[in-house]
Amino acid sequence: MDSRIPDFYEETPERRREIITSRCLLSEEDSDALGEGPNSELMDSLSENVIGSISLPLSVATNFVIDGEDVLVPMAVEESSVVAAASYGAKLTRETGGFSTSVSGPYMLGQIQIRDISDPYSAKMRVLERADEIRSMANDQGVLVSHGGGCENVTARVVDTPRGPMVVVHLLVNVQDAMGANAVNTMAEAVAPLVEEETSGEAVLRVLSNLADHRVARARCTVTPDMLEREQSSLAGEEVRDRIVDAWAFAAGDPYRAATHNKGILNGMDALAVATMNDWRAIEAGAHAFAANDGYGPLSTYEIDTEGNLSCSIEVPVQVGTVGGATRSHPTASAAMEILDVESSDELVGIFGAVGLAENIASMRALADEGIQTGHMKLHAKNIARETDAPDELIEEIAARMVAEDDIRAGRARELAEELSQ
Ligand code: MEV
Repeated sequence: MDSRIPDFYEETPERRREIITSRCLLSEEDSDALGEGPNSELMDSLSENVIGSISLPLSVATNFVIDGEDVLVPMAVEESSVVAAASYGAKLTRETGGFSTSVSGPYMLGQIQIRDISDPYSAKMRVLERADEIRSMANDQGVLVSHGGGCENVTARVVDTPRGPMVVVHLLVNVQDAMGANAVNTMAEAVAPLVEEETSGEAVLRVLSNLADHRVARARCTVTPDMLEREQSSLAGEEVRDRIVDAWAFAAGDPYRAATHNKGILNGMDALAVATMNDWRAIEAGAHAFAANDGYGPLSTYEIDTEGNLSCSIEVPVQVGTVGGATRSHPTASAAMEILDVESSDELVGIFGAVGLAENIASMRALADEGIQTGHMKLHAKNIARETDAPDELIEEIAARMVAEDDIRAGRARELAEELSQ
């Protein structure tokens, strides 16, 4: 098989699909599956070399109260239990008022890398002497200023690299309701010649930083020990609470655990990003870089307040927009935004923080008590039941029986399907 396909990008999605079908010797069934998605024109406009689309379940997480308002959260994810966990985590916080959030503001950073400088420390000073000029040149680009945003500050650092010192100039840009990558990249490219002139070096990289530590979501909530107690468990709420705080301490002391702890948080945040077609890769990059700022650690914190309740909090960069990109051009993402009913990117950023924390609380509670497999297996049982030829109305029953028997296997699902179909 030859992976070179001349002019592939110029074909229609239908024609590309035919080419791939014949190149990869796909069955008719597989070929049809590639073409099953919606509106190939829209998909084609969102990416390159499009041959189809792949759908994910779009769900809504319930129970969220954020800054005093009830919020329904659209989530798109293939991992069963993520949406249930977010809804459950949010439910645990309802009686204590839900989540309080704040946001550091819609600020993104653009970086300009200058290399080959003989006097980097003086060059940095020369750049800073012209900071106002650089700022106003950046603000001549695009429309941010007319929307109340724009470049607000110019800073510079000398960064020690394996190839010697480099001057790195940062543009701090108020991107208002945009995610901001395009606006910031345009500004960084525009001011680079001026920075070059002043440093007598060469500007090479001119691009946004995804370590968005000036666009940080903060969320907090309280969970009472009562809410942590479950009928099926012998553990008192206070014991679960203490185990959760120790689980957090484990993550704070061990990056192997912190990575999984943060993955749980991002399960929720990514699902919301995908549902609203925000750039989840940027969110992932920013979250992990932020978590590594002072030695890799957990993004959330668990403590016990003076009344014995679990005090939960999170700080995480969230780079998302409510305007521009696929968020508005994709009709389903746009409808997801309508469900959220937010007025600004700051509001959306706060919701991301709350969703990440809710997801994390649910994981922590399960891990501290019965473990995560019980819940996972219940959902997994349904997937296994669906893989049999049983009619839809029997799926729940087959899954429930497998869970009750503690025997969740494809073979058992087929036996039950046969038995119940008679
Ligand atoms: C699974 O997708 C996520 C968890 O492993 C997160 C965690 O361990 O905190 C449950």
